[in-house]
Amino acid sequence: MGKDYSKYFTPSLRDARKRINRETQVIKYTLPSYLENIGRNKTYHIKTYGCQGNLADSEKMAGILEAMGYQMVDEEFHADIIIFNTCAIRENAESRVFGELGRIKGLKQQNPDLLLAICGCMPQEENVVSRILEKYPHVDIIFGTHNIHKLGEYIYDAYLSKERVVEVFSKEGEIIEGLPSKRDHNAKAWVNIMYGCDEFCTYCIVPYTRGKERSRLPEDVISEVEELAKQGYKEVTLLGQNVNAYGKDLDMNYTFANLLDDLNKIDIPRIRFTTSHPRDLDDETIEVMAKRGNIMPHLHLPVQSGSNSVLKKMNRKYTKEIYLEKIKKLKELIPDISITTDIIVGFPTETDEDFKATLDLVKEVGFEGAFTFIFSPREGTPAARYEDDTSMEVKKARLQELNDLINEGYLTGNKRFEGKTVKVLVDGKSIKDPNILTGYTEHNKVVNFPGTEDLIGKIVNVKIEKAYTWHLRGIVE
Ligand code: 5AD
Ligand code: SF4
Repeated sequence: MGKDYSKYFTPSLRDARKRINRETQVIKYTLPSYLENIGRNKTYHIKTYGCQGNLADSEKMAGILEAMGYQMVDEEFHADIIIFNTCAIRENAESRVFGELGRIKGLKQQNPDLLLAICGCMPQEENVVSRILEKYPHVDIIFGTHNIHKLGEYIYDAYLSKERVVEVFSKEGEIIEGLPSKRDHNAKAWVNIMYGCDEFCTYCIVPYTRGKERSRLPEDVISEVEELAKQGYKEVTLLGQNVNAYGKDLDMNYTFANLLDDLNKIDIPRIRFTTSHPRDLDDETIEVMAKRGNIMPHLHLPVQSGSNSVLKKMNRKYTKEIYLEKIKKLKELIPDISITTDIIVGFPTETDEDFKATLDLVKEVGFEGAFTFIFSPREGTPAARYEDDTSMEVKKARLQELNDLINEGYLTGNKRFEGKTVKVLVDGKSIKDPNILTGYTEHNKVVNFPGTEDLIGKIVNVKIEKAYTWHLRGIVE
């Protein structure tokens, strides 16, 4: 007989699909005082997988841990608690985490007091939780995306009870404001503007793992950005699965375009945002972007496919024509804009002709970069049940052909800056050569140039000498 796991709070993708129409509450976070010293003389290490949403969540968990007295360590070997903040978007992301969980077992044998936690999108799937419960008994804490603010309590319970702590909610919770955050970077910051997604693209697990769309209140977002500006941050990236839906769930007449316009008035050099949905990207947003100010001339606008029949099966709710119309408007109003995208190849029933339509669209738009993926069936999503008669060999060949074309786009996009002077926000030293600095331009291009450490975190003018596929090379002016 199998073990009885009924005492645990485990998820259900079926429940996660439901959308209940109730207003989201905003709750102010405070660390319970009994947790304040739990981490004294102890260390933590967080491994983050997946999107910027996870990076932002990891910074908040680091903030909570430091408020509890924990200190960060770069090596897992020295850590008293290791947290895996995971991604469920494609199968290979999950396989990697399972591999790592297996590998880490040895550490636990060497140090029985080590706590091992897994959180993020993977634990939102019931099959993942069952697999961890059955096969990875060395994992002490399992929680999901809706309760990172309870991290401290889970650690406390795990220390106290010496039992596994499993709490995954299928329903999204409230919006928690005021979580401490230990930001990774001191010039660039993530700012969540909304959580969840209500699009239900048929291939995508996110609406299940992240819950329904919930926007933060405009005043909370604005004051966070103002505070970052005051602290000297140079760049803010606004985060949401579909930022263009911002405000739709709030009982006020306030849209993403209004938010961008308000943030444009703050004295911070750079505002970026991700991700946009082509259907919801409206003219007002494009018009605010065209005012420029601190809004960067780069847009990541995932198209996924250039075939109308595939788009329909993906439930993307736009056609190739509508997408191209938006691109036209963007280019009219912001002529130097750089546009990047996401594309999935090998979606069930995608024919050679469908794929060719994607290649044609890529050529027509002139994307300056793209994340490209082979369709990965996610259990619980509609597309996982679609009949798929394309072989993996064909899918791989399509991906290769697409990538070759996309790489041409990267190079063309970079070439247009040869001989020009661009503003670069300096990120840090190049990994390969400590005398070379690396950073990003306003158009989100990587620039490498010789320079000294004191420039890190500053915006400098760099004259571009040569463009390559993946980066630009220049000298400080
Ligand atoms: N298979 C492959 N790619 C996917 N994406 C989302 N779900 C899947 C899936 N099941 C891609 C989309 C999305 C990006 C973040 O990941 O292109 O825009
Ligand atoms: Fe997934 Fe579509 Fe939502 Fe993006 S918009 S997170 S692809 S469901």
